[in-house]
This record gives sequence, structure tokens and C-alpha cells, in this order.
Amino acid sequence: MKVLAIETSCDDTSVAVVDDSGRVHAVLSRNQDSSHQPFGGIVPEIACRNHTQFLLPLIDDVLRCSNTIWDGIDGICVTSRPGLIGSLLVGVVTAKSLALALGKPLIGVNHLEGHLLAPYLMDAKYTPRYQRQYPSLGLVISGGHTSLYRLVSPGKYLLLGETVDDAAGEAFDKLAKMLGLGFPGGAVVDFHAQSGSAQAFEFPRPMMRSESLNFSFSGLKTAAYRMIHSLSIEEIKAKMNDLCASYQEAIVDVLLAKLALALKRVEARQVIVTGGVSANSRLRQRATEWADENKIDLLIPPLRFCTDNAAMIGLAGIERLMRNESDTMQLGPHPQSIIGDFQ
Ligand code: KG4
Ligand code: ZN
Repeated sequence: MKVLAIETSCDDTSVAVVDDSGRVHAVLSRNQDSSHQPFGGIVPEIACRNHTQFLLPLIDDVLRCSNTIWDGIDGICVTSRPGLIGSLLVGVVTAKSLALALGKPLIGVNHLEGHLLAPYLMDAKYTPRYQRQYPSLGLVISGGHTSLYRLVSPGKYLLLGETVDDAAGEAFDKLAKMLGLGFPGGAVVDFHAQSGSAQAFEFPRPMMRSESLNFSFSGLKTAAYRMIHSLSIEEIKAKMNDLCASYQEAIVDVLLAKLALALKRVEARQVIVTGGVSANSRLRQRATEWADENKIDLLIPPLRFCTDNAAMIGLAGIERLMRNESDTMQLGPHPQSIIGDFQ
């Protein structure tokens, strides 16, 4: 079985052909960073306009790259929630039109489920280190989410904790903006941090010692704002790497502390760290060390499957299809994940 998958929930236009073993036959994405950079953040109106222009040519290309004809496609999967409503709308309406015209099943996918399954994708260069086991623990860290889930069984997820304010990716992006490093900023902060000292500046670790599994990053952002404004431009330039490393360390400390706390509370046979922020080199290193010390099977997707991509939507979608869970033509975009648990 093979599906065509579409991801347009935010500012990446991505399409993929994926089979029921999780093998990615092709995935093609176009980012829109240059369109949003001048505004220092994503402009929803521009994002959906770009999706409209990019999507159909990308679908043609992905079919060609994967040597697939429409007869070889068993379903059309699309991210239907959560995300920017105009962006989701472009993907959902395109997927519905294709499903209707071609007489194929339509499968709406929760973007967060896509991230949680991303480490189980496969391609020529990547095979998951461990076979999938339930129950497991999944931390989704992206520009819009910082959410901790218990994966109970295929398709059944229990929300254990989430951010009460900013997402971890947003915290990275805000620091980059304050330091004039452009947008999106996570990868640039990561790059500077590699040559800096994590002990140079003292940043708060919000909610790290609380018993709650929720996260908070807005206090950290405010502390960075105060710190940066107490320094001269020359000092900021000279201490750029240290600022990035110290700030990044605070985020990584909080993420790993909550993961460890969750693992004490619920049984998990493996742990997943996923989403755009899981591309962070320091987080990957520290999470791997933590997992080794605690003898936990840890899965982090390769970099290309950390950030938004349609391959992960294809895997989540084809698994829904195999469980006979397709959608009707009433499928609509929704800005939020279903609050609490999602199935
Ligand atoms: O999952 P994603 O592509 O999109 C959302 O669903 O939000 O995540 C994007 C986020 C951005 O905030 C970006 O700055 C962050 O992931 N990011 C990183 C790194 N690469 C991307 N954050 C820290 N370190 C990185 N290397
Ligand atoms: Zn995402």
C-alpha cells in the first residue's frame, strides 16, 4: 500500500509518497523562509498564498521522483490540524479535490501524530534504531508546540503535559530575533552555541523543579531580553556564542528534566524526542547521554524528519487507513489539536 501525503500546516509546503512499512519513496519540500524573513516571523497570509502556488507542482514532482502513477496510490493523506487555518485550508482542499476526482480514500492527519511517528520512517540512509514498542513516551518540540504524550497503542495518545505559554522553538526564535540572527532562529542559535560556554550567563529554568509536567518558556525569554539590554552592542557581539550556549542549555535542562519526571510517573518501553527543536545538536547529545545512562531506548528522527515534512504525515495517515479510519468530504481544517488526548 502507498499513499500521497500533503503537509501545509505552517510555512513549509511538503509532499511525499510513503508505503505501509514507513518507507519514504520520495519527499519534496519548499520552505518559505525568504518570504517571511523580512517580517521576523511567519505571516499567515503570505504562507497560504505560497502554499497555493507551490503545492500542485510539488505533487507532480513527487510522483515523478518516486516513479508512481495515480493508480499506484491507495489514499490521500493531509494534515488537517493543528496549524494556521489558511495554510491548512490549502492542503485540505487540495487533498479533498484529489480524493474526489480519483475516487481514493481521504485521510486527515493530526500534525503532532506525524511528528510522533517521524522516527519510525525509513529511507535509503535511515532505519530506526529500535522497533516500535508501546507504551512509550513522546516529546514533541517545535515552533508551535512543546507537548509530552504517552503513546498508549497505535493511534491512541494521552497528553501528559504541554507549554503554558511559549513553545521551545518559539523561545529559540525569539532569542535569535533579539540578537538580530534572523528567522527562524533555532538552527543559528545552535550553530553559535557550539562555540560558546553554557555557564557564561545564568538563565532561569522555568518550572523545572515543579511537580507538573507542563513547561513554560516566557520567563526565559524575558530574562534574555533584560540580559541583552544590560549589555552594549560590542559586548553582545563579543558574547554572542556564550549567550546562545547559556540560553540553549536552560531550554535543554528543562526539556530533559520533564522527560525524566514523566518517565518516573508512567511506564514507557521507549522514548521519542521529535519536532523541529529535536534537530538541536546539544539536545540530541544530552538526550542520548541521558538515555544511555538510564538504559532507555531513545528515538530521535534524522534531521530531515525533525522539521515539518509530509513523510511523517504519510506514515500517520497510512496507519489510519490500515485501521479503516478514513475521513468523509466533511473533513475541515482545525487550528487546534483536540484538547487533551487525540486518537
Ligand atoms: O517542527 P517544525 O519544523 O515546525 C513546527 O511545527 O513548528 O519546528 C520549527 C522550529 C522553529 O522554531 C525552529 O527555530 C526550530 O524548530 N529549530 C531548532 C533547530 N532547528 C529548527 N531549534 C533549535 N535548534 C535547532 N537546530
Ligand atoms: Zn511541526
